[in-house]
Amino acid sequence: MDIRAERAEDISAVHKVNMAAFERENEADLVDRLRSVASTVSFVAVEFEQIVGHIFYSPVEIEGECADNLFILGLAPLAVLPEHQRQGIGASLIQHSVEECARLGCKAVVVLGHPEYYPKFGFVPAKEKGLRCEYAVPDEAFMVLELARGALKGCSGTVKYRSEFREFE
Ligand SMILES: CC(C)(COP(=O)(O)OP(=O)(O)OC[C@H]1O[C@@H](n2cnc3c(N)ncnc32)[C@H](O)[C@@H]1OP(=O)(O)O)[C@@H](O)C(=O)NCCC(=O)NCCS
Repeated sequence: MDIRAERAEDISAVHKVNMAAFERENEADLVDRLRSVASTVSFVAVEFEQIVGHIFYSPVEIEGECADNLFILGLAPLAVLPEHQRQGIGASLIQHSVEECARLGCKAVVVLGHPEYYPKFGFVPAKEKGLRCEYAVPDEAFMVLELARGALKGCSGTVKYRSEFREFE
């Protein structure tokens, strides 16, 4: 299995992976809308030339107190084809892509997701770092991973996703 940056020719397969994993169109359509936004990051997992997994990041804003121009990405969505789940593909996608996010200058990644899954990769409840989600979600479901030590020191505020997210809720 290979993890690599998404290419133009992957777009339709990536759409299908998201549709299959989430059993609806919202996440697949959201990715198609966000792809042209600056500073998005998209990686695919490839097995025998088939795209079996996908991870996407888009920039978020902090409304509140934080260091100026802090580059933070929101991880969403993460999808693995149902028949390929529980084989470590999601884990590989996360581990590989967060390194790339750090190389791009991103200081932290937030995620709204399964609270039993993301802590395996170092995510902690965002509340512990002073960050709230703009949506009404359980505290433990909104998590953050600092990519630079102390990047979120003194931060306090609400994380706002791109407006496109509200269209695909
Ligand atoms: C969530 C998802 C991306 C995980 O991908 P995956 O390739 O199956 O996950 P991995 O095989 O890498 O699992 C890594 C670890 O997490 C565990 N895990 C996998 N899915 C999990 C889940 N939904 N909840 C809790 N733990 C989970 C695995 O058992 C494994 O643990 P281990 O290393 O201790 O054995 C995949 O199940 C999926 O596409 N689900 C549907 C879409 C979705 O919910 N996306 C995430 C939105 S937050």
